[in-house]
Amino acid sequence: MSESTKVKFYTGEEIPLELHKVRIVQKLHLRPIEERYEALVEAGFNSFLLNTKDVFLDMLTDSGTNAMSDNQVSSMLVADDAYAGSQSFDRMLKAIQHVFGTKYVLPVHQGRAAENIIGKTFVHPGDVIPMNYHFTTTKAHFELNGGTLFEIYTDEAFKIKSSFPFKGNIDIVKLKEIVAKYGAAKIPFIRLEASTNLIGGQPYSIANMREVRKVADEHGIMVLMDASLIGENAYFIKEREEEFKNSTIKHILLEMCNLCDLIYFSSRKVSSSRGGAIITNRKDLYDRMKDLVPLYEGFMTYGGMSVREIEAMAVGLHETLDATVISQSPSFIKYLVNELDKKGIPVITPAGALGCHVEAQGFLPQIPQTQYPAGALVAAYYLISGIRCMERGTISSVRDANGNDVLADLELMRMAFPRRVFTLSQTRYMYDRLLWLYDNRNLVGGLTWREEPKVLRFFLGKLDAIGDWPQKLMAKFRADFGDSL
Ligand code: F0G
Repeated sequence: MSESTKVKFYTGEEIPLELHKVRIVQKLHLRPIEERYEALVEAGFNSFLLNTKDVFLDMLTDSGTNAMSDNQVSSMLVADDAYAGSQSFDRMLKAIQHVFGTKYVLPVHQGRAAENIIGKTFVHPGDVIPMNYHFTTTKAHFELNGGTLFEIYTDEAFKIKSSFPFKGNIDIVKLKEIVAKYGAAKIPFIRLEASTNLIGGQPYSIANMREVRKVADEHGIMVLMDASLIGENAYFIKEREEEFKNSTIKHILLEMCNLCDLIYFSSRKVSSSRGGAIITNRKDLYDRMKDLVPLYEGFMTYGGMSVREIEAMAVGLHETLDATVISQSPSFIKYLVNELDKKGIPVITPAGALGCHVEAQGFLPQIPQTQYPAGALVAAYYLISGIRCMERGTISSVRDANGNDVLADLELMRMAFPRRVFTLSQTRYMYDRLLWLYDNRNLVGGLTWREEPKVLRFFLGKLDAIGDWPQKLMAKFRADFGDSL
């Protein structure tokens, strides 16, 4: 059966086509702007603290919010409830062996739990861990065990406007320098994150993985993959890497996994379910980690997950092989990114996985980084549209020992596209409101802390607007849109 997902329109328009139909729906709430303002103040201008009753399109994350398929939902009804030896776990094991080609599986309750077990087992004080880029929970766990992260991304990775197809690649020269400087004994593994989240959902190539593998083999270092967004990375390899343009997704996934010693993932992303796992073909690695599963997660056949989720995960993993599933978010993201780019709105290009990333310093140049341009953009966009996005900038960073903000490499507003959740007209609305905000960007001001937690402040912290910019923005909205929601 063909794996193509290309559909050309007679008019020549490039439109992402939904290759599924909607069978269960959830009512959304688009409140008037005055009510959204009240919700925003209550939430301390922090989108994490909004309630979905006040949110129209929820683009906070794709984690646990992808639409499930009919087969996933029905599989949950046949789940085998057993503390030990559940058949649901057998089905998950078979799915993992089929899709990733790995023999051993340690189930965990979500991605960061895998990072905890991997960190506790392999990372020791003084270790260094080279990687394309960190994810927040990865960094926290590996540092907690005494490791230091080295982010050795390519020079293209942080160029906002780029046509480089694999911005998630590791810079091999920098990798060799780190190995030479610290020595293999201090490097428990090299970590590769598929569709690298915090640089804008950007993939790496198999050619790059092979080079990483070569360096690793020369020095006897392990290669670890965070496969939370492996499906989309495989899709981009098929689209962008010449050698694989005629390969099946299955072949690409197996090729990617074969190049690694150890793999883990968040099922909240990869298989549109919940949970996670650590997988490997090396029995020695499995044996070193396995005792931590009953200690931190639960028995070996459920690892903190409900059996219903395990069934949905098994089906979801098989569906990762379906190009119509893994192409959906990238094709909608590409559509939105290209439309915004045409209007000169600063967005990360080329379009990647996970979401459309708007560059807030280019969007709101009047706001200094210490007044959180990405946070201000997320707040302003919610106010004028009801759309909830995520701040990925200095608010998501930390303070140094002197109490100063550590300014983020990039100030981004992430507009996540959970798989198969939004329609094209909703995507047009995202575009329309962002365009209006861009034309009125001079009205937007910065944010300052009202309550600032000491750790992971972006989750629970509350801020206030500096000055009365929200009122000005609301007045302009009413002037332009009349009584429109
Ligand atoms: N690794 C990556 C690349 C992730 O994107 C995430 C989560 C994790 C690990 C942790 O997995 O949430 O199941 O514990 N990313 C979510 C996001 C939270 O919104 O991007 P988890």
